[in-house]
Amino acid sequence: MPLSNLAVRDIETVVHPYTNLAGLRDSGPLVIERGQGVILHDSDGKAYIDGMAGLWCVSLGYGNEELVEAAAAQMRKLSFGHLFTAKSHDPAIELAERLKEIAPVPISKVFFCSSGSEANDSQVKLVWYMNNALGRPNKKKIVGRLKGYHGVTVASASLTGLPNNHIDFDLPIRNILHTSCPHHYRFARDGESEEEFATRLAAELDELIVTEGPDTVAAFIAEPVMGAGGVIVPPRSYFPKIMAVCAKHDVYMIADEVICAFGRLGTMFGSQALDFKPHSISIAKALSSAYVPIAGVMVPEAMYQALLAESRKVGMFAHGFTYSGHPVAAAVALKTLEIYKRDRVIEAAAAKAPQFQARLAALGDHPLVGEARGLGLVGALELVADKRTKRSFEPAQGVAARCARFAEELGLIVRFVINDTLTLSPPLVITPQEIDELFERLGRALDRTLDWAKREQLLAA
Ligand SMILES: Cc1ncc(COP(=O)(O)O)c(C=O)c1O
Repeated sequence: MPLSNLAVRDIETVVHPYTNLAGLRDSGPLVIERGQGVILHDSDGKAYIDGMAGLWCVSLGYGNEELVEAAAAQMRKLSFGHLFTAKSHDPAIELAERLKEIAPVPISKVFFCSSGSEANDSQVKLVWYMNNALGRPNKKKIVGRLKGYHGVTVASASLTGLPNNHIDFDLPIRNILHTSCPHHYRFARDGESEEEFATRLAAELDELIVTEGPDTVAAFIAEPVMGAGGVIVPPRSYFPKIMAVCAKHDVYMIADEVICAFGRLGTMFGSQALDFKPHSISIAKALSSAYVPIAGVMVPEAMYQALLAESRKVGMFAHGFTYSGHPVAAAVALKTLEIYKRDRVIEAAAAKAPQFQARLAALGDHPLVGEARGLGLVGALELVADKRTKRSFEPAQGVAARCARFAEELGLIVRFVINDTLTLSPPLVITPQEIDELFERLGRALDRTLDWAKREQLLAA
């Protein structure tokens, strides 16, 4: 089909994040024009269920008038205000107060920024700064996990454990380590139970810290459920065991809750669902239902005291962004949190999770699906060439990408990550009927992919 005028103009002007730029020149982009609730419309008027809430973020769905009005009202009142050099404004103060109230662990202050990457980059700098303040300048290494995703700025991309984020970007930077991914289906040994697997990974982390030297390892960072690495839900005992290792070596624990916070797992924070208490927390995405960019680092008192001491010594806390605590973003975030509470959005998401997870699990029987996995309103299907041996397709075969394209033809937007995994993370406000429709379409997309894979002879004999 010839490309539309908009598509041609796009190709000539836009560098697309996370896109095969060569392939885009042939296929063109899918140009989305408007959205309402969980439905998006493209520039030809075709409707799609947004099975990904944008990028795991549009928790309240599109076109929420209350959020639009909160932004407009704040723009009329004070369209910009910053927090540098001891300036402040109402929305930032109120939002920080509100976040302290709902935090799952004692939080002293909130540092605002605009993206998950900035939040995690700030976490790295804050930990380094804190350990300098505490007189332990060698305790600087930060441990991430293979398949973890923490963003794309220099430090956050270094924490990310996905090869494409490092290859030819000259990353990771020094002092960043990676430990194993807690994905039982892929990485457990033959006959190893989830419990034994979790014990082994905790022992491996312990060994890594001991080998590196506990006085050199500052922090461990983890998403409660890994998102972009393929929606990996760890064994139930994984985090309690990992936390014990961190505590033993005085290693600071950072929860990257950029996807999981604000209801995605059926709890306000993902660490509550996975049963662990981090020291600090990165938040973004659903904080404002993605209507405007806003993110933050939730800082505990011990770290705040260290920042205070350093700023006394240096003269100021010299970190922050022009848009840290932007009043319009803060006002929209406040309204978002108000709606979560007033409409019991998180509780409703938890109530819909069994239906969502049951429909997802049922697709686990499909001949192309090696594993169906998820928690709350997030899930994934890992596609395999051979269910019995778990053999993956070759990346170049592009099977998950093909399935995502079939889904689009059928009016459903899903994402594929790390070559072979389809992810789902719909707006939390999705209705039970829409959940059924989403899975109907996904089932049909899988059937079309199976027919195609058979024709291409990509399956095990
Ligand atoms: C867990 C997690 N951390 C950090 C990020 C990076 O956020 P951003 O794209 O806003 O920089 C993401 C983005 O998807 C994420 O999923």
